[in-house]
Amino acid sequence: MSPSMRKPLIAGNWKMNLDRDDVENFCSALDQELPKFDTAAYDAALFPASLYVAEVAKRLEDHGVWVGGQDCHQAVSGAFTGDVSAQQLADVGARVVLAGHSERRLHHRESPQLVADKVSAAHDAGLVPFVCIGESLAERESDRTEDVLIEQLLPVREVVSSLGSESWVLAYEPVWAIGTGKTATPEIAQEVHSFLRRQLSDWELSASSIRILYGGSVKSSNCEPLLEEPDIDGFLIGGASLDPGSFLDIIDRCADSS
Ligand code: PGA
Repeated sequence: MSPSMRKPLIAGNWKMNLDRDDVENFCSALDQELPKFDTAAYDAALFPASLYVAEVAKRLEDHGVWVGGQDCHQAVSGAFTGDVSAQQLADVGARVVLAGHSERRLHHRESPQLVADKVSAAHDAGLVPFVCIGESLAERESDRTEDVLIEQLLPVREVVSSLGSESWVLAYEPVWAIGTGKTATPEIAQEVHSFLRRQLSDWELSASSIRILYGGSVKSSNCEPLLEEPDIDGFLIGGASLDPGSFLDIIDRCADSS
């Protein structure tokens, strides 16, 4: 990571996990431990289930942790049973939102254009979208990684073309590494991150200051070598973010190495 320009950003995606008691325990642990950290050395974000966004945002507001939804609808409001809009997330204190997580692309058939529409809705609502992209194992094995990433990014390019680097985050999450325990090696991740940064630069998207996170089986034991790579600026963490001790340990290691 380039220390002078891009502060490490550590984000936890809880997916459909944790109940009220767990959320309360998590917030209490952060309340107690985060004041010991140097907040200038890192940024942190959490993505609870939408039911808990308001509570977590309120509890962690004083610690500067950004809280947000794991998804939002592309419309501002309307007859979309079961969905939540970016405006509604912002209304209850969210500052960030995930867009295009591979589980949404896979299980909810979200297309690159739909993801771009969600990114646009998020920005209009004042949220910072974390745009998630990544290739499957079959796509990697058939040498299609770069093409797939470009395909996923192309419609987003239009939306973010007028945004500054603080207004969106890119997360590279190879599908084969998510929840599998198979982390990309630092070399593999760096190769893709540097490709992405070059692509953003070709598209004139303030490439040198946009943060590109890596996600896929990140834990405290593997985060440091990944963060040493020049184009890896932090993490989007699933499983290892469910336990406050492990999430704090990752922040600690990343803040230390900045
Ligand atoms: P994982 O999930 O850390 O459990 O692999 C990452 C993600 O899906 O964001």
